[in-house]
Amino acid sequence: MKLNTIGVLTSGGDAPGMNAAVRSVVRTALYRGMKVKGILDGYEGLFNKTVIDMGDRSVSDIIQRGGTILGTARSEKFKTQEGVKEAAEACRELGIEGIVVIGGDGSFRGARDLSLQGIPCIGIPATIDNDISSTEYTIGFDTAMNTACEMTDKLRDTVQSHCRCSIVEVMGRHAGYLAYEVGTAVGATAILVPEIKYDLKTDVIDRILAAKEKGKKHFIVVVAENLCDVEAMSKEIEAATGVGTRPTILGHVQRGGNPTVRDRVMATKMGFYAVELLKEGIGNRVIAYKQGEIVNYDIYEALNMKKVLNADDLHIAHRVSR
Ligand code: F6P
Repeated sequence: MKLNTIGVLTSGGDAPGMNAAVRSVVRTALYRGMKVKGILDGYEGLFNKTVIDMGDRSVSDIIQRGGTILGTARSEKFKTQEGVKEAAEACRELGIEGIVVIGGDGSFRGARDLSLQGIPCIGIPATIDNDISSTEYTIGFDTAMNTACEMTDKLRDTVQSHCRCSIVEVMGRHAGYLAYEVGTAVGATAILVPEIKYDLKTDVIDRILAAKEKGKKHFIVVVAENLCDVEAMSKEIEAATGVGTRPTILGHVQRGGNPTVRDRVMATKMGFYAVELLKEGIGNRVIAYKQGEIVNYDIYEALNMKKVLNADDLHIAHRVSR
C-alpha cells in the first residue's frame, strides 16, 4: 500500500544529527510525492495535535544544527496501551498514515506499538549513547565523542599544570561506549565502564601509582555515568595516591553542538532509507548500520538483539596508557 502523507518526529534525549535526519526524511518524502507533517515534541505532539506541514524550505539551514527543530520529549502517556490507541486515533484524524521515529530504544518500543495499531512506523537510531543493540552506530555518537574529548583535552591543560588527577564522568546511560572511546582518545590512565567490573584499588589507584613511579605527573580517569559517585571516588584516589584529584561531570554539554560530518552523512542516509521503506507502507522496522551497510530489521527482533562492548579494546587502551 502506497502512503500519501507521513509524519516525522524526534523522541527521547536529543542527539546532534537529528535535524539532518529530519531534513533527509522530509526531502526524500517530498521527492517521492508524499506530504510530510512534522510532529512536535515527540509522541506528545500526537496527543496535543501539534503538527506542522513541512516543505522543502522548512528544513533549510538545519543540517548543521544540533538539537532538534521538532522538539523532543519522553512521553509517559505513550507508554500505556490507552495512550498508544489515542495516538493511533490522532494519526487517523490528522491524516498521518505512517511515521518516521528518530530516537532510541524507548522510542522504538513506541514505534512498534503504534505499528501494531495500524500506523506503520520506521525507527532511525539517534542517541549519543550508541546503546542500541541492533546497530553498530547511532546518530549523535560521533559528535558527543568529539565534544567530550575536546572538553577533556581542556581539563588536561590544567591537570598538567597542577600535576593533578582528573576524574571525568561522561554520559552513556547504562552503556560504556562513550566512555571507552573518549577514554581511549584522551589516553586515560583508567577507563571505567558498566560492562566490565572494576576494582578501585587494582584498576585505578595501582595504575596511577605505577605510572607515577615511572615519572608520570598528571592523570585522567574516564568514568561512565551511573557507575559511582565521582566526588567520593576523587577523595579516595587523592588519599591513596597523594595526587590532588578533582571530579568533573561533563553532563548535557555532550548532547549539544553542531553535528560532525559522520553524523550528518549517517543521518542523511538513514533518513533516505527510512522513507524508502515507509513509502510502500512497510512499517514496524528499524534502520541500522551494520558492517558498513545501512540495513533494516523488524523492531521486535531489533529490540531483542544483544550488543557487547569489546573488553579487548579496553585492554588495548589501558596497555598503551602508562
Ligand atoms: O540517552 C541520552 C542521555 O543523554 C544519556 O546519556 C543520559 O543518561 C540521559 O540521556 C539524560 O537524560 P535527561 O536529559 O533526561 O537528563
